[in-house]
Amino acid sequence: MSNNFNYYTPTRVVFGKGTEEQTGALVKAQGCRKVLLHYGSGSARKTGLLDRIEKSLQEAGIAYVELGGVVPNPRLSLVYQGIALCRKEGVDFILAVGGGSVIDSAKAIGYGVVNEGDVWELYDRKKQATGCLPIGVVLTIAAAGSEMSSSCVITKDEGGVKRGYASDYCRARFAIMNPELTTTLPDYQTACGCTDILMHTMERYFTNGGHMELTDSIAEGLMRTVLRNAEILRDHPDDYEARAEIMWAGSLSHNDLTGCGIQEKDFASHALEHEIGGMFDVAHGAGLAAVWGSWARYVYMNCLDRFEMFALRVMEVEPGRDAQETALRGIEAMEAFYRRIGMPTSLRELGIAPTDEQLVELARNCSIASGGKKGSAKVLQEADMLAIYRASL
Ligand code: NZQ
Ligand code: ZN
Repeated sequence: MSNNFNYYTPTRVVFGKGTEEQTGALVKAQGCRKVLLHYGSGSARKTGLLDRIEKSLQEAGIAYVELGGVVPNPRLSLVYQGIALCRKEGVDFILAVGGGSVIDSAKAIGYGVVNEGDVWELYDRKKQATGCLPIGVVLTIAAAGSEMSSSCVITKDEGGVKRGYASDYCRARFAIMNPELTTTLPDYQTACGCTDILMHTMERYFTNGGHMELTDSIAEGLMRTVLRNAEILRDHPDDYEARAEIMWAGSLSHNDLTGCGIQEKDFASHALEHEIGGMFDVAHGAGLAAVWGSWARYVYMNCLDRFEMFALRVMEVEPGRDAQETALRGIEAMEAFYRRIGMPTSLRELGIAPTDEQLVELARNCSIASGGKKGSAKVLQEADMLAIYRASL
C-alpha cells in the first residue's frame, strides 16, 4: 500500500566535467554580499580545486572569507568558530567545498548564525530551527548525499556525541558535481562512499511502512547500479562513467526519491553507526558495513517479504527452498560484496574492539538519540540495540 508523501528537493544540480568553473556565476546569482568558503583538511587545496574556486569567485567579483580544517565526523568546535567568523564578517552565504563532513559543518554554521542561542540545542532536541544561511556545494566525494538532503550530522568534541538534525532550511541552493573531482579519493573512501549510498536506499527499502512499485523499481535500479559500479571503481578508479553513476546515485539515494510512498524509514543501522562514529571516530560508510549484517540477521524475519525481494531483485541470488533461505542468501551476498570492495563486516574488521561496558554505553546513547526506539523493519529498543552491537563484534 502506498502512502501520501511530500517530496521537496529544491537543489539545483549542475553535473559533469568542468562544472566547478561555474561556481562564481552560481554564487553571484544568489545575490549575496559575502561568502564563507568552507573546506576540509587538505585534499581540496592539494588537488588545486580550491585555487580554481577562489579564481572563479574573484572573477565574479564576490567577496569571501575562508575557513578550512573540517575533519570527518565534523566537530562542533569548528562550527562555533565558523559562526563567530560569519557574524564578524557579515557573511550571508556559505560555499561548502568537500564531502558530507564539510557540507554538514556548513549547514550547522548556517543554523548557528540565524538561530539565537547555542546551535547544539538543535542536535540535542531542545529547540527547532527557524532558518539557516543559504548553502551552496562543490561536491568532492560521492557518499553522504548531504548535497541534496535535509539532514546535518555533527559531533560534539567532549564525549564524542554524534547527533543529526534535519530540516528543509538547510537544503543546498545548488550542488556542483563533477565526477572527475572524486578520482583523487583514496580507494577506501570511494568504497565507504558506495556503502553509504547503498545504505541510504536500503534504510528506506527495508520497511513495514508500505511501498510503491515505482519507488521500489527506482530503489532496486539504484542499488544494482551502485553494486556494479563500485566494483568497476575498485579495479579502475579513473573510470569516469562509473564515477558519474556513483555520484548521481549518491544524491538520489538521500534526497528521498527512494522513500516516496513509504511511511516509515528504518535508519536503525545509521543510528547504530552514529554512536560508533562518535565514540571511535571511524569512517561512516565503513561503520555501516560493520554493523549491517548483524542488524539484518536480527530483523529479517520481521520484514521477510522485503528481504526476499532484495535478495532476488538486487543481489540476484538463486531462490532458496523458502523465503527465509532466500533472504539469508541475500544478506550473505551483500556481506560478500562489502568484503570484495574492502569494507568490514564486523567491528573487529573495522579495527575497533569495544569492551562490553562500551557496548552498553553505545546502546544506551543510541536509544537516547532515537527517542527510545528506532526502525521499521523491526522496531528496536535499547536491549535489541545492545544485542546487535554484541553480534557485530
Ligand atoms: O578533509 P579532506 O582533506 O578533504 O579529506 C576528506 C576526508 O578525509 C577526503 N576527501 C573528500 N574528497 C576528496 C577527499 N580526498 C581526496 N580527494 C577528494 N576529492 O575524504 C574523507 C572523507 O570525507 P567526508 O566529507 O568525511 O566523507 P562523507 O561525504 O562520507 O561524509 C561523512 C559525514 O557525513 C555524515 C556522516 O555521518 C559523516 O559525519 N552523514 C551526513 C548525512 C547528511 N547530512 O545527509 C547523511 C549520512 O548518512 C551521514 O550520516
Ligand atoms: Zn549515511
